[in-house]
Amino acid sequence: MSKVFSGIQPSGDLHLGNYLGAIRNWVADQHVHDAIYCIVDLHALSLDIDPSVLRSRTYETALDLLAAGLDPQACTLFIQSQVPEHPRLTWLLECTATMGELRRMTQFKDKSEGKESVRAGLFTYPILQAADILLYDTDRVPVGNDQRQHVELTRELAIRFNVRYGDTFVVPEAAFPSVGARVMDLQHPTRKMSKSVSSPLGTVLILDPPEEIERKIKKAVTDTDGEVRFDPEAKPGLANLLELLAVATDRAPADVAEAYQRYGDLKRDAGEALVELLRPLRMRRAELASDPGEVTSLLAHGSEKAGAIASVTYQRAADAIGLLGSH
Ligand code: TYM
Repeated sequence: MSKVFSGIQPSGDLHLGNYLGAIRNWVADQHVHDAIYCIVDLHALSLDIDPSVLRSRTYETALDLLAAGLDPQACTLFIQSQVPEHPRLTWLLECTATMGELRRMTQFKDKSEGKESVRAGLFTYPILQAADILLYDTDRVPVGNDQRQHVELTRELAIRFNVRYGDTFVVPEAAFPSVGARVMDLQHPTRKMSKSVSSPLGTVLILDPPEEIERKIKKAVTDTDGEVRFDPEAKPGLANLLELLAVATDRAPADVAEAYQRYGDLKRDAGEALVELLRPLRMRRAELASDPGEVTSLLAHGSEKAGAIASVTYQRAADAIGLLGSH
């Protein structure tokens, strides 16, 4: 069975981009692959976050993921900071990567732009991500499009390490959904829907009540030429709505476009389809919140399972690079 690994930051409420770009694939993969999923709380420290907010969001993210369909019987779900091999392997990989490689990362450029003071952790962020992936001998990394460059860097670091020190890491591949790999902000359709940028009307949260989802879709920015066709370059707002209705109803966006003449009808159907898509998540989320002890013990069990795998891989890397054994 091939091995799947992916991660999510506990830095905000889960939105439609997270769900369609990544989490839906996580749910599908857990039944056919050996799947490990991680809430990356250490990554969240690369930007300013209040300790109590970090603590509660880490827990809330676990609830969201379970509500979205992760099944603890079918996959391993754990918290990054509970497995110390993540920062340990990060150091070995920091001594494998170069400054130039990290400077080229577009996420670093975006998140540091215009800031007077930037945390060093924001710069080395992609290396911690590489450690996450490589610790689990991962074959496949289900992510949205914005993670393409990070997974590419992970591959390069794995290959370089293997060439320098002998075969140590499996070289992973990213897996993107065919539709939904880049869900755009409904109010600013040329930028991606995001947890970190505040755009309440542009972001559909997976736990938004039905009327809120429909309201946001209705108010989505489109264009004035009035023609329904799938053209992400010329008509980004409309293309985004077509993609959303397409994933929700399992069709291709261009086919969806053919069925509509008016923006209003498309928005109405997209809103309704998303409400239906997300309805079971809202219901499960409410059930899960009533049993916090269960979730905490499930996460502890996940960290134990992940830690057992991670320590073997870390030791292999430490041996290969020449650290005196401490088995
Ligand atoms: P994060 O927490 O920003 O997002 C989690 C997942 O959601 C996807 N995503 C989107 N997909 C489509 N459209 C969007 N608008 C959208 N916004 C977010 C992301 O691509 C991601 O798959 N660096 C990662 C977390 C990470 C990780 C890893 C991922 C840490 N270690 C190891 C994979 C493997 C991040 O910040 O994702």
